[in-house]
Amino acid sequence: MSKPLVAIVMGSSNDWETMQQAAQQLQDFGVAYDARVISAHRSPDLLFDYIKEMTAQGVQCFIAGAGGAAHLAGVIAGKTTLPVLGVPMPSRHLNGMDSLLSTVQMPKGIPVATFAIGEAGAANAGLFAVAMLALNDAGLAQKLANYRRKQAEAIATITLPSLG
Ligand code: RP5
Repeated sequence: MSKPLVAIVMGSSNDWETMQQAAQQLQDFGVAYDARVISAHRSPDLLFDYIKEMTAQGVQCFIAGAGGAAHLAGVIAGKTTLPVLGVPMPSRHLNGMDSLLSTVQMPKGIPVATFAIGEAGAANAGLFAVAMLALNDAGLAQKLANYRRKQAEAIATITLPSLG
């Protein structure tokens, strides 16, 4: 098994349904990743150990998904200088607005690149990680270009039904 280039962390196993979209993108592009449930609030010591472990293994970025009072991405960003990509989970009571605001509103000096709430955000975080890795990997850059081309071709073939 190759060493992970991306670490995906989520605050609860309930986040996996959404965060697997990030993992799927990485898998589709052949990027090795590690995925774990670790909570900034419920298991902060484990989180710090994991950041150290993944950094030692050579990951290039962290993708963090959390909901509600979503501090996971921000806490990771406070402990590493690697890029941190935050994905706000669609929370039960506030539809993810709480997750979005608490992920995006980082203090100056500790950035988190924040994505859309939910599945689109998780998938885009995966794609963004691929794009970062592609800066130093011509094969990956070519795969990303092909992915974009196929997406554009699929749009171009759409025909709308006539009004009858
Ligand atoms: C956050 O609290 C998690 O990321 C999750 O989105 C939210 C609720 O967690 P559970 O109560 O579903 O485990 O830490």
